[in-house]
Amino acid sequence: MTFDELFLTNLKGIYFAERQVLKALPKMAKAAESAELKQALTEHRDGTQGQVERLQQVFEILGKRAQGVTCEAINGLIEEFTELVDEAREAGPVRDAGIIAAGQAIEHYEIARYGTLVAWAKSSGRKDVAALLQATLDEEKKTDTLLNKLATGTVNMQAAQAA
Ligand SMILES: [Fe+2]
Repeated sequence: MTFDELFLTNLKGIYFAERQVLKALPKMAKAAESAELKQALTEHRDGTQGQVERLQQVFEILGKRAQGVTCEAINGLIEEFTELVDEAREAGPVRDAGIIAAGQAIEHYEIARYGTLVAWAKSSGRKDVAALLQATLDEEKKTDTLLNKLATGTVNMQAAQAA
C-alpha cells in the first residue's frame, strides 16, 4: 500500500462517516429538549452538508470518484446515540446530557480523522487539500467546544438536579 492509497482509504472512511452523521443529526436535534442544543445540532447539520461538499472537492482535486467505505467506528458511535434515546425514553436534561456526550464522541472521532488527513496532505505537499480539510477540522473543533459549553454551562447541572 502506498501513502496515497492510505490517504484515499481514510478519505473514503470519513466521507462515509460524514454522510452517516448528516442523517443522524436531525434525529439528535429532534430528541433534544434544550432549545440551544437543538439549535447547535441543527446548525451543525447544515455545516456537515458543507463538509460533505468539501470532501467531494478533495476527491475531485485528486482525480478520484467520491466514494465512501463503511466506517464501523462511526456506525458504532451513532448506534450508541440511538440506544441512549431508546433507554432514556423521556426528553429532558438527562437525555440532553447523553445526547451531548454522544455528539462529542462523534466530534472527537472526526477531529482525530481530519487531524491525520491534514497532516498527511501537508506531508505529501498537497496544500490545497490540506486547506480544505483544515477548514472542516476547525468547524468540528468549534462544534465540540460549543457542545462542551452547553454541557458544563447548563445541561449537566439540570441533569444532576432532575429527580
Ligand atoms: Fe463533520
